[in-house]
Amino acid sequence: MPAFANSVLRFITCGSVDDGKSTLIGQLLALTQHLPDDLLQALRRDSLKHGTQGIAIDYALALDGLAAEREQGITIDVAYRYFQTPARKFIVADCPGHEQYTRNMATGASTAQLAIVLVDARKGVLPQTLRHSAIVAMFGVRQIILAVNKMDAIDFNAARFNQIEADYRSATAPLGLQSIQAIPISALHGLNLTQISAEMPWYDGPPLLQWLEQAPIAVESSAFHMPVQLVLRPDQDFRGLAGTISGGNVETGDTLCVNGDQNRRVTLNAITRAGAAQDHAIAGDAVVLCVDERVDISRGDVLSHINDVPNRSDRFEAQLLWMSEVPAREGQSFLLKLANRSINARLEEICTLVDISAGTFTASQTSQIELALNSISRCIFRLDFATVMTPFAEAASLGAFILIDRYTCATLAAGAITRVHAPREVTRHPASVSAAERALQKHQRPRCYWFTGLSGAGKSTLASALDRRLSDIGQHCTILDGDNVRHGLTRHLSFSESDRKENVRLVAETAKLMLDAGLVVLVSLISPFRADRGAARALFQPGEFLEVFVDTPLNVAEARDPKGLYAKARSGLIKGFTGIDAPYDAPMQPEIHLRTQVDGASVGVEELLGVLLRV
Ligand code: ADX
Repeated sequence: MPAFANSVLRFITCGSVDDGKSTLIGQLLALTQHLPDDLLQALRRDSLKHGTQGIAIDYALALDGLAAEREQGITIDVAYRYFQTPARKFIVADCPGHEQYTRNMATGASTAQLAIVLVDARKGVLPQTLRHSAIVAMFGVRQIILAVNKMDAIDFNAARFNQIEADYRSATAPLGLQSIQAIPISALHGLNLTQISAEMPWYDGPPLLQWLEQAPIAVESSAFHMPVQLVLRPDQDFRGLAGTISGGNVETGDTLCVNGDQNRRVTLNAITRAGAAQDHAIAGDAVVLCVDERVDISRGDVLSHINDVPNRSDRFEAQLLWMSEVPAREGQSFLLKLANRSINARLEEICTLVDISAGTFTASQTSQIELALNSISRCIFRLDFATVMTPFAEAASLGAFILIDRYTCATLAAGAITRVHAPREVTRHPASVSAAERALQKHQRPRCYWFTGLSGAGKSTLASALDRRLSDIGQHCTILDGDNVRHGLTRHLSFSESDRKENVRLVAETAKLMLDAGLVVLVSLISPFRADRGAARALFQPGEFLEVFVDTPLNVAEARDPKGLYAKARSGLIKGFTGIDAPYDAPMQPEIHLRTQVDGASVGVEELLGVLLRV
């Protein structure tokens, strides 16, 4: 029996559509006797109906589990398959090849130790081959088997095989892959899979399965850490911290610390796993830990050994796979989820983008660069506060993150931390008079009404009327109006996209200071970009920020043209005027939606004010 008879290798297959991934895995399952007779029979039947191989068995169908997938002949989800040989057990993730399913590929890659990258010998290395290779590299897979498939279709041409291998090696050089083993195969005919094929005598390496059996399995990092998933408190006497140990091991009696903070230490009193008390636990165990009560611990906190604590920082560099149709730009903010914790994160800099078509890393030239769907980049992020993190290569659980859209809750990107920067040495000075106390002094509930809409929509008029009305009933208000603020606080800013963003940020920060001083703040700003308004909102507590969409159709605002600016914009005297040659993103879910025109007739200020005062 080989020494690693009980070892498990998790691998992923990837490549472009139709490169033969499912056929390869189907063959591996069949050759290792992992397709039961009834499935084989069903396959024979289905192969005649949906198969692409005439009367031969189309093994790819064994993998395409979903009916919809079968009918289209494509794999959509990630299909996990299990098989084993006397030497080893295998878990394989069969990932979709279509570009729109790249995110599924990332899921499969995140737990794999090795990747089989399939290339169709007739087509050679394609952009999708490189994209997949970059993704597996990003998620820490360093061993690649480059399976050059369909060798039978190119008459087993050795020169062509060598050329594809050379192309792949040079194209992936920047990815830092540790080992690339190229193998010429025919998945359909089962050549060079379990035995060396007579058709390719020039190939002197092992068959693919042997390579899988011998591939080294990386040992996980040994430092203990566990992100707390849930605090269990069934009664007054019990408090347990539930989670999965993501690295290293622990024993009862160990001294642990919370979030890398040496001052927050606890003693581990008891470990429970699967309902039974244990004296130790190791990586991968789902456990409940009981610690002494002195320190407050909640979901998202990370436990580690006192003498081996992870870094804490609010700034890091990462590889990022952008998975949303809506592109991202520098300066945007997202919700970042890292080790059970969600934190506001700002995309500070896009350093490099992987140019897939050329297979190279290119430095970004301007701040206008966007992260498009499926792009891979190296970026710098800044968090609102420091948290525990490590490079992905050291501990996947503290180095892998996703970005989430705060409003739609959609996953926008997956990332792997590559470098943790030193945290900013700026601490907050505690207030002696709280914001709540200041509000109480003024007998009011401080809020920020954020009026957004086109120029000439009526924002300032409405803000002014609201100011008057609230002041009349004794409320303490203030107005931050774009036209006025741009004469002072933000006079250095133009109307370029990035300057508008900064304009919104400065006004939002000012509004927040005023709100904390106890005032009702009325902001009147075009603030044309949804993302910038979202970032403004993120500064406030829930309920404090009310987005007021002053919804006036462009033709009406233009007809009013109170400052004559639309006329100038139309004649080209003003460039980048909102609504004319610069965009306005209407709010999707404003707290207050004021339609200033109904059935073609103007709605009076009094009526709109009534709506505002009712909120
Ligand atoms: S924002 O886009 O940065 O939020 P802001 O509300 O501060 O704009 O300023 C808008 C006002 O600036 C408009 O009401 C208009 O009077 C004036 N303005 C001058 N140039 C432009 C422009 N190119 N686009 C929009 N408004 C402009």
